[in-house]
Amino acid sequence: MPTKTYVQTTINGEQVEFLCEPRQSLLECLRDILHLTGTKEGCNDGNCGACTVNMDGRIVCSCLVLGVEANGKEIGTIEGVATPKGLHPLQLAFLEGAALQCGICTPGFIVASKALLEQNPRPTEQEIRFWLANNLCRCTGYDKIVRAVMDAANRMEAAKR
Ligand code: FES
Ligand code: FES
Repeated sequence: MPTKTYVQTTINGEQVEFLCEPRQSLLECLRDILHLTGTKEGCNDGNCGACTVNMDGRIVCSCLVLGVEANGKEIGTIEGVATPKGLHPLQLAFLEGAALQCGICTPGFIVASKALLEQNPRPTEQEIRFWLANNLCRCTGYDKIVRAVMDAANRMEAAKR
């Protein structure tokens, strides 16, 4: 039985503790230990972005991060995107703009897009495409996803007025 390591972290604003094997990825810890299954496994080798989470303000592929590296960090997952008041504008825009089909890529796109809009509230189409270049979708053809991010940006700007 491999020795387990104690990890203390913050996930979606809540303090979380867990034990994991040193070899386990953050993706495995989120899904298999903490049962936060919104973060998806696609390739498990850093190529698809389905497992994207926010770590201390940067988006990372959680399949490439060890669970032990989450110690002391702030992690944001798809489960923390909606609030008790309702869905995030990105989630509404993806739903209303049909920017998903099978949905496996969607949590990664939304977590990545949220980080983009936090840094750059009015991104151009080119900036969105560049930012989301590490997120792959085998279903939608990307145009609806890019339009949904632009739509969410517009909704968020309108809400400020
Ligand atoms: S599952 Fe992590 S990048 Fe594909
Ligand atoms: S909606 Fe199926 S992979 Fe993106």
